Amino acid sequence: MKVDVLLGLQWGDEGKGKIVDVLTPKYDIVARFQGGPNAGHTLEFEGQKYVLRSIPSGIFQGGKINIIGNGVVLDPALFKVEVEDLQKSGHNLTNRLLISKKAHLILPTHRLLDAAYEASKGDEKIGTTGKGIGPTYTDKVSRNGLRVGDLLHNFEEKYAKAVARHREILRNLNFEYDLIPLEKEWFAGIECLKRFQLIDSDHFINKALTEGRKVLAEGAQGTMLDIDFGSYPFVTSSNTVCAGACTGLGIAPKRIGEVYGIFKAYCTRVGSGPFPTELFDETGQEMRNLGHEYGSVTGRPRRCGWIDLVALRYAVMVNGVTQLIMMKSDVMDAFETIKTCVAYKIDGIETEDFPFEITDNVEPIFVEFPGWQTDMTKMQSENEFPEEFNAYLTFLEESLGVGIKIVSVGPDREQTIILNS
Ligand code: GDP
Ligand code: IMO
Ligand code: MG
Repeated sequence: MKVDVLLGLQWGDEGKGKIVDVLTPKYDIVARFQGGPNAGHTLEFEGQKYVLRSIPSGIFQGGKINIIGNGVVLDPALFKVEVEDLQKSGHNLTNRLLISKKAHLILPTHRLLDAAYEASKGDEKIGTTGKGIGPTYTDKVSRNGLRVGDLLHNFEEKYAKAVARHREILRNLNFEYDLIPLEKEWFAGIECLKRFQLIDSDHFINKALTEGRKVLAEGAQGTMLDIDFGSYPFVTSSNTVCAGACTGLGIAPKRIGEVYGIFKAYCTRVGSGPFPTELFDETGQEMRNLGHEYGSVTGRPRRCGWIDLVALRYAVMVNGVTQLIMMKSDVMDAFETIKTCVAYKIDGIETEDFPFEITDNVEPIFVEFPGWQTDMTKMQSENEFPEEFNAYLTFLEESLGVGIKIVSVGPDREQTIILNS
């Protein structure tokens, strides 16, 4: 059996959570492969809304195994909150949520370091989610990290050593903090974590595949936030691209099957960094209002703009996308005109290739489409699609070279149209 991968093609928040939930009935196992509680994956069904941070979005479809993979960084304190919220709403996780022993732990001091580094950058700050993601992955790569499996051997000693090192850095950065309340929550989180099965997820997943079970790998963030291919340095600290599923779960590249690339019918970004098609006018505000574009974790207003096909083509290329999924098309329902960025002009020269870096010199070149100006939120089938919408879809498919297989017309699980053509 192969592992199918679902990942974001833009700057995150494309609607990954919703679609993982929709696709889960086709799978036996859903596994998160990177990122941590910087993610906020929203699902809506039966009038309820849930936001998941570290727990995979397959958790609501009964009887499926969900795995937090080795590529994920886990904050026990936030994990406990997430577990308790799910339990309060009647969702039992026992025996359904398994955690890789190789996943790295976000320490309370990692969160402090995140804040301290951001403060020290001043105007050049990344605008991180403040969840300690960068410092945790830094410790992983510099071989100083603590892993979930460390909870089972000499943990206190390893923890004390890591915290002493972090305190030294914080002292050098003149950062003031109170660790005591953070540690209290964190150690309560550790007790919560210990109640789950801590597994060798690499062996578990490969064995499952050999036995013929189907696995869906869930990405977090998006390709434009990838540490190697995103808008560096304004990125997150992990590989959000398809290759991240191999390293983040321990599966061989030849095991990858479908690669679902998910994007919004327009584009958003949270935090700092370049965004060539960003709108600063009323149209951008309208997108924000209609799309409720406020961060699901931080509540920060998301920056909004037109779809960027230069960046999307690049994302399709580096991920080897085999199927496209278009989200939030309903947000465009009322627009008279819809713009798509088809090329960049850089220093007077037009290019369709995504450049080494996006600077203020990048001028987007747009092609306009007439809007469909039809309420699509109650549509159930592609037969109902307005002509203008079909023209937009065809144009996107031709520009990106991959077929669109799912169109989402609202936040609810039911507002999802699977295309047959
Ligand atoms: P994720 O991080 O990729 O899982 O996406 P988020 O959950 O952060 O952001 C997507 C937001 O859009 C959430 O509030 C979803 O409920 C909402 N959403 C998802 N699909 C649609 C859609 O087709 N239409 C509308 N209007 N909202 C959607
Ligand atoms: P999901 O999975 C949108 C952004 C932050 C910041 C940058 C680095 O919900 O799509 P970090 O805390 O990771 O060091 O922040 O990345 N960012 C996201 N933006 N969606 C996300 O996750 C994000 N996770 C991180 O805003 O610009
Ligand atoms: Mg999100």
